[in-house]
Amino acid sequence: MKLLLTNIKELLQVRDNAPSKVSGLEMKHLPTIKNAWLLFEDDIITDFGNMDNPGELSEDNTLDCTGKIVLPAWCDSHTHLVYAGNREQEFVDRINGLSYREIAEKGGGILNSAKKLQNTTEDDLYKQSAKRLEEVIQLGTGAIEIKSGYGLTTEAEMKMLRVVKRLSDNYPIAIKTTFLGAHAIPSEYENNKDGYLDLICDEMLPKIATEGLADYIDIFCEEGYFSVADTNRLLQEGKKYDLVPKIHVNQFNALGGVAAGVTNNALSVDHLEVVTDEDISALQDSQTMPVALPSCSYFLGIPYTPGRQLIDAGLPLALATDYNPGSAPSGNMNFVVATACIKMNLSPEEAINAATINGAYAMGLSDTHGSITKGKVANLIITKEIPSYGYLPYAFGSDLIDTVIINGKPI
Ligand code: NIG
Ligand code: FE
Repeated sequence: MKLLLTNIKELLQVRDNAPSKVSGLEMKHLPTIKNAWLLFEDDIITDFGNMDNPGELSEDNTLDCTGKIVLPAWCDSHTHLVYAGNREQEFVDRINGLSYREIAEKGGGILNSAKKLQNTTEDDLYKQSAKRLEEVIQLGTGAIEIKSGYGLTTEAEMKMLRVVKRLSDNYPIAIKTTFLGAHAIPSEYENNKDGYLDLICDEMLPKIATEGLADYIDIFCEEGYFSVADTNRLLQEGKKYDLVPKIHVNQFNALGGVAAGVTNNALSVDHLEVVTDEDISALQDSQTMPVALPSCSYFLGIPYTPGRQLIDAGLPLALATDYNPGSAPSGNMNFVVATACIKMNLSPEEAINAATINGAYAMGLSDTHGSITKGKVANLIITKEIPSYGYLPYAFGSDLIDTVIINGKPI
């Protein structure tokens, strides 16, 4: 089936030969066509242009987009969308003065979510997660990465990954899967972190890899969690199973994990609320994408990733939600884009590049997603009537989406 969008006020992120990512000064440039049309056949973008030059176009199936802006659907490269229950009590505890770390030390935090998940059936976990996935699709997300890491036993980690696979089979958006067994040290291994890493390396990884349940491998490299040496060990082990690293690093402390990620050819290094000059040097001339998660900074009241500094140093930057029950209970990429502008001083052009083409790169999807390019998947956001694309981050609390199109079909 063909569908033609006409009279588009402005078509954003139009690229004839789309680069795999944009970096530094390139991020300030968002190529657009004003007064545009866009044609797609089934799930693939086939053509676009200016309304003054519609050529031979006559298509029965048209959608008039007068006053509306069209852009590629968001590419959310970092989420923990599969989880059981919620942690609003910890949220209240934080309001009353406890820190995120104190809550974790009392058995809350990731271990609290792991306990809940271990006691939840696979079907129930699927239902809870599917509801969240449906919500984020409505909010304009067209490709997403989902991590394990709230299981922390072989069976529970595999349960999470099987749920992700089921979501991927049943929903039209692209889903990439990351194995994050090294998210926290389970209480049974409290004084035996190496024993838990042995379990991950000797039991979890081989099983997960044999069943083809993960694309990427992740670890939380942080004080009180896993060290740089643990990170090196795990990423090298993952490489044996062709799992590419995407790591949690520099959320609270800069331990040297960014350089370890780069050395191990990480596709992305995520969080980066704390960044040193050494981290920036390690990222320069690498193929590793830095990923900022502003909703986590917002929710926990911790520093924002110095995205301005990273881009000004010539680096690329991607934006993602980190959707999870502890540090970012929101999968709203519209809020992420707005917050990146408001709190990280990104321009709307930079934020939109970071949430589309660079997000696609951080999931290995830039050949198919993240820009309006002939041959790419027709995953689109059609906005309501708005004055300009700068209005998207400006009116940060408003619902500005009219229609989301996934694989060429309005949702
Ligand atoms: O990315 N930092 C580590 N992991 C998650 C949060 C985990 C949780 O609190 O449940 C994150 O922020
Ligand atoms: Fe995370």
